Amino acid sequence: MSKTADNLKSAFAGESQANRRYIAFAQKAEDEGFSQVARLFRAAAEAETVHALNHLKTLKEVKSTKANLETAISGEHFEFKEMYPGYLDAAKKDGNPKAAWSFNVANQVEAIHASLFSKALAALKQGVEMAETDYYVCRVCGNTVEGMRPEKCPICGAAKTEFFKTD
Ligand SMILES: [Fe+2]
Ligand SMILES: [Fe+2]
Repeated sequence: MSKTADNLKSAFAGESQANRRYIAFAQKAEDEGFSQVARLFRAAAEAETVHALNHLKTLKEVKSTKANLETAISGEHFEFKEMYPGYLDAAKKDGNPKAAWSFNVANQVEAIHASLFSKALAALKQGVEMAETDYYVCRVCGNTVEGMRPEKCPICGAAKTEFFKTD
């Protein structure tokens, strides 16, 4: 890989992390009553997303939707079959229940993502898009549900009201 391709990958990772970090910092600023600081963190977070996407597109890692679904499925498979199970075991051995919880819920949700993406890919292979449906995400664990909000999150037990609809 060229030095520049390496740098683009590394900058993509850094900008992506800065985006999520600033979202977390904005939430904290809101909690502490600093709504203007929160606004600034959200603005910078959006800008970091622009940078991250510029880097990723320059790397030519955004392909056709069919290819992108294949990439997404293999990433999710890696996460729930290899990465998170290992991380979860290590967190238990380290006596870190919070990390174990975080890895465990992510692990379960990645399996759901893999299945949702696979469904989308199967439809595309038939030359159609999936039937229209809404998606809801659990604010507590990230569980991703199609159709309607469940009464209670089947993964983390959160109430129905913790689910928000995505665009
Ligand atoms: Fe995922
Ligand atoms: Fe949940």
